[in-house]
Amino acid sequence: MNYLYNNNKLLISKANLLYNLNMLLSIVKDKSKISPVLKANAYGIGLIEFAEILDEYGIERFCVAKVIEASRLRENGFKQEILILGHIEEENIKYCVENNITITIHDEYSLNNLIIMSKEYGWFPKVHIKYNTGMNRIGFDDKNHICKIFERNSVEKTLDIEGIFSHLSKVYDGDLDFTLSQINKFEDLIHELDVMNLRPNLVHLLSSGGIILYNSHIYDMCRPGCLLYGLLPDRSYFKDYTFKEIITFKSKIIQIHHLEKGKSVGYSSGFITDRNSKIAILPLGYADGLPRRLSNMGRVIINGKYYPIVGNISMDMCAVDVTGIDDINVGDEVIIIGKQGASSISIISISEALDTVRTEIVINISDRIEKIFIDKF
Ligand SMILES: Cc1ncc(COP(=O)(O)O)c(C=O)c1O
Repeated sequence: MNYLYNNNKLLISKANLLYNLNMLLSIVKDKSKISPVLKANAYGIGLIEFAEILDEYGIERFCVAKVIEASRLRENGFKQEILILGHIEEENIKYCVENNITITIHDEYSLNNLIIMSKEYGWFPKVHIKYNTGMNRIGFDDKNHICKIFERNSVEKTLDIEGIFSHLSKVYDGDLDFTLSQINKFEDLIHELDVMNLRPNLVHLLSSGGIILYNSHIYDMCRPGCLLYGLLPDRSYFKDYTFKEIITFKSKIIQIHHLEKGKSVGYSSGFITDRNSKIAILPLGYADGLPRRLSNMGRVIINGKYYPIVGNISMDMCAVDVTGIDDINVGDEVIIIGKQGASSISIISISEALDTVRTEIVINISDRIEKIFIDKF
């Protein structure tokens, strides 16, 4: 029922996605080690659609953050291994066990709880242990404690401990010392597990930035997110590899006003015309994923040229100043993110203007927007 959407569209380039996957493969070398991170609706582009592309590409494992994301994949028939990287609520454990969804164990409470449940119900749940090497988000702090967990489980055999992992927190900041201290801590633990002959099958540490900068530490698996979506931060140390942005975000003009000088536009008179003006209205607002902070600050592309967003962006609409341009009309296409002619608006330019990360821009593109996967832009 695509006709139920309005004029806003998110075009996703399958060609650029495949390009990014191939670029990643040229670093990782082995497809079976790639476990893409599909959280937050696959960084806003569409969980199921992206999972289908990855399935065709031959990807065997997915990572998500929450049970609801894993369940959407299972309900849509995906048979891949799925690792939930985040915390799992007690009431969702049964669902994970019954649907072959791998659980992250990150603290004593989640560990004991799972052991008790497994004994009671005769489960042998697949788990990965999370080691906190410095990010101080979730994970066990103590290497020796983790070794004891492995030791105890080698006797009791209550859990199927398939993996051990950690997460680097300052790769994108270029903080080499901090990152190396995290890597060294992780290496120490893996060494201990090797010595005890208890190293699990899947040792993993790296997400996008780490895959590029520290690829000698890919081990058995890696968890790329933003690089697949062409969202690596613009840092000179990532320049050896190019990844392409994959989206074009478009709207259309739905009305045009000719306003005299001194008229107000939008909520709270956020813009007052300083000349006789031609103002184009778009059916796109902050509920659609156009950040409200772009009010009186952002710009769009129409017929290959830039025009400013004026006034306060409202929930469902915004206004663009096209004064002096006769050949702009109702129905004309408007580029919010993407290229037209020689002009382009990248996700990075928006995230930098708003002093945020690129991923925040894309994950907020709403499900009111029609998402269309196309072969090329
Ligand atoms: C544990 C973990 N692994 C992997 C990723 C993917 O990170 P990136 O998008 O930088 O590749 C994330 C994302 O935040 C994460 O939390």
